[in-house]
Amino acid sequence: MGLFSNNSSKGTITEEQVRAVLSKIEDPDLHRDIVSLGFVKDVAISGTDVRVVIQLTTPACPVKDQMKAAAEGYIRQLGATAVDVQMTAQVVGGTRGGGMLPGVKNTIAVASGKGGVGKSTVAVNLAVALAQEGSRVGMIDADIYGPSAPLMFGLAGQHPRLYSNEKGERKFEPLVAHGVQVMSIGFLVDPEQPVIWRGPMASGALKQFMSDVDWGDLDYLIFDMPPGTGDIQLTLTQSIPLTGAVIVTTPQDIALEDARKGLKMFERVQVPVLGIIENMSYFIAPDTGARYDIFSHGGGAKAAEKMNVPFLGEIPLIMEMRIGSDEGVPYVVRNPESEEAGNIRKIARALAAQVSIANMGGAQQPIQIILGNDQ
Ligand SMILES: Nc1ncnc2c1ncn2[C@@H]1O[C@H](COP(=O)(O)OP(=O)(O)OP(=O)(O)O)[C@@H](O)[C@H]1O
Ligand SMILES: [Mg+2]
Repeated sequence: MGLFSNNSSKGTITEEQVRAVLSKIEDPDLHRDIVSLGFVKDVAISGTDVRVVIQLTTPACPVKDQMKAAAEGYIRQLGATAVDVQMTAQVVGGTRGGGMLPGVKNTIAVASGKGGVGKSTVAVNLAVALAQEGSRVGMIDADIYGPSAPLMFGLAGQHPRLYSNEKGERKFEPLVAHGVQVMSIGFLVDPEQPVIWRGPMASGALKQFMSDVDWGDLDYLIFDMPPGTGDIQLTLTQSIPLTGAVIVTTPQDIALEDARKGLKMFERVQVPVLGIIENMSYFIAPDTGARYDIFSHGGGAKAAEKMNVPFLGEIPLIMEMRIGSDEGVPYVVRNPESEEAGNIRKIARALAAQVSIANMGGAQQPIQIILGNDQ
């Protein structure tokens, strides 16, 4: 639209040149250049003024800033004087959602073999971190037996609204906290009244959380799973059309052994394991700065390597993480500027990258589990 003279000045920049230099930029996760991946959406050239739109597969891309800087640098080398590189994102969705969750692009289970390793805390912080990066995120508290989402999101005592949509179907409207849409059995039953759920009832409730809740359009729907790898967990896992699963573990051997069982469970139901997160990885004493490896350290990374799944990162034991969970203000909201919160956001980006890999075919990074000597 501008008044740009398309004159014969030497060094006119062409779209081909721009695409050629941009093809030097490789997506480190997908191992292909951004031009052949189709990420370069728009190239507009007016004289030496170059505008480019690069569309990534997630707003939580770990290398977004580096890519933008590299693109700007290469385009300048062509002689451009004004360079505008816009980074956008369109989350790619798997097809596993089927008809059950029509507007949901990706479903991720956060699971653990052993209880109490911080799965819910990690799931909540990852969900909020992804939302902070600009994704549309929902969370289903799939722990029918011990729901934690109401407390951890600060939604205890609240109830989702039930309404009839245009088709006359009764739907729940999820509650929203810290940018995340949330559904939990804890919103529907009195926490003082113990409910005896048999396995089929639990998976029935979980199915209703998918079919009877108006999730709208979501990039990521996170499922906080109950601990363990028994029949109930297996049934629940099979009730969800999953893009992939994340295993949370603490570093000590006993937890890692259970993490391995978790990996096997997902393998059995052919759900790709997107990675392992080591929680309660170490503790830094706030008064002395001394570091304590309370539950040992580094086991998660070693286990991931051995089982040939990505290691997404480690989260230390932090007192304020526990306080945040109890007070309904997740750590990434409570202490957003802290190094640890930055680290959790990095883990969320690494997870988003693995989701993109799984959706783009995933052949470059093997995500099947290589089993050791299993019984
Ligand atoms: N990194 C951490 N630093 C400090 N406290 C933590 C951390 N991670 C989790 N916690 C605390 O540990 C306790 C257990 O965490 P959480 O409920 O998230 O575990 P879980 O694996 O979901 O448990 P369950 O197996 O019962 O579902 C909670 O009190 C939580 O606040
Ligand atoms: Mg939990």
